[in-house]
Amino acid sequence: MTTKKGLKIATIGGGSSYTPELIEGFINRYEELPVKEIYLVDIEEGKEKLDIVGNLAKRMVKKAGLDIDIHLTLDRREAIKDADFVTTQFRVGQLDARIRDEKIPLRYGSIGQETTGAGGFAKAQRTIPVILDICKDIEELSPNAWLINFTNPSGIVTEAVVKHSNVKVAGLCNVPIGMVNDSADMLGVTPDRVYIDFVGINHLLWGRKIYLDGKDITDNFIEEVAAGKSSTMKNIPDLDWDPDFIRSLGMFPCSYLRYYYLTDEMLKEEQESAKLEGTRGEVVKKIEHELFDLYKKPDLDIKPPQLAERGGAHYSDAACSLINSIYNDKKDIQIVNVKNNGAISDLPDNVVIEANSIVGFKDIKPINIGSIPTRIKGLIQVVKAYEELTIEAAVTGDYDTALQALSVHPLIPSVTVAKKILNDIIKENKEYLPQYK
Ligand code: G6P
Repeated sequence: MTTKKGLKIATIGGGSSYTPELIEGFINRYEELPVKEIYLVDIEEGKEKLDIVGNLAKRMVKKAGLDIDIHLTLDRREAIKDADFVTTQFRVGQLDARIRDEKIPLRYGSIGQETTGAGGFAKAQRTIPVILDICKDIEELSPNAWLINFTNPSGIVTEAVVKHSNVKVAGLCNVPIGMVNDSADMLGVTPDRVYIDFVGINHLLWGRKIYLDGKDITDNFIEEVAAGKSSTMKNIPDLDWDPDFIRSLGMFPCSYLRYYYLTDEMLKEEQESAKLEGTRGEVVKKIEHELFDLYKKPDLDIKPPQLAERGGAHYSDAACSLINSIYNDKKDIQIVNVKNNGAISDLPDNVVIEANSIVGFKDIKPINIGSIPTRIKGLIQVVKAYEELTIEAAVTGDYDTALQALSVHPLIPSVTVAKKILNDIIKENKEYLPQYK
């Protein structure tokens, strides 16, 4: 690490509307985390956004009075060279591709969502070849760097890196941190007093136990969730859980589990809102226009509160505190997408799980979970099988593997539907799927 010079960060997908979150995170932690250079990288098509958000980032740093250089570049290799941390938050095909991912499954009566179900499969097919290319650059130009991946589907993309590169990687998501914040709100306390013991994989996550100031309050908390007191991410409809189901589950599910436990209701909700206001991707497109109009204002020099309208709000807390803990070898506990390595005995060692993990400079270790309860084991195993096949399909471009991946997924009702969805995905993503010949 380049401690004396200060740290170099490369952010791929730097033109993202979320970038002010990240910059705010680095500004807030500057004392502990001496970032000297941030390279925001994007591609030609994203140049306009990169300029707008990059200039806001420069104003934020200036207002904070810190000596951090922000570089805006289309040259990924220049950014990655000698970086200490590479963060990834890119979207291959931009929002138009996301909208297609949402619409294709809906056409056949299946959940149309950015990360969950067939939409997530399509996004993974576009993204995995690109992330593996980025990893080749890291292996060559900054082999000691940590890759902090936010690109969705985060768990799948991280697992592709674990299986197909030598890069040190940690995958992140704002769902766990969102659940901690939400629980703290419900309890009327600050988040630092709450600890949740999680089990699962990315966007398929349960809180097993919850502690307030170290005291186990799980039973009472589950009663509150059953009574409808929990809230949801901005991008997930807030449908009520069945109280009997929550009590008998004895755990509290993340928002995304509504797609699995309330499939019919969620599908109906998606179909109705697609007609009324468009899919979530279409709604986000409008929010993005408004956000970028705001970002253009020369007197704006802080992260605008309107960014909280996005589902990924507060992700910088997860990213910057992880980078901080790695850099300072804190050995504290954070929720990370990390190689299983036996932590969940019912899953293969080389898959990625989302787990409370001990974060240090050299490695990130998931805390042992052991065997998972039967009531959630089947779902985790089947979705993990889908994820493994999805990665294999993205790497090989093998149609049969892709068909198996979609056919295994619990949200895709039949092989007939899987085949129709897959054919549309390949057809409508032609320019982004060179691996499918
Ligand atoms: C959640 C998920 C993220 C996802 C985001 C989408 O926070 O955890 O993985 O990127 O929502 O939010 P959006 O505002 O783009 O729908």
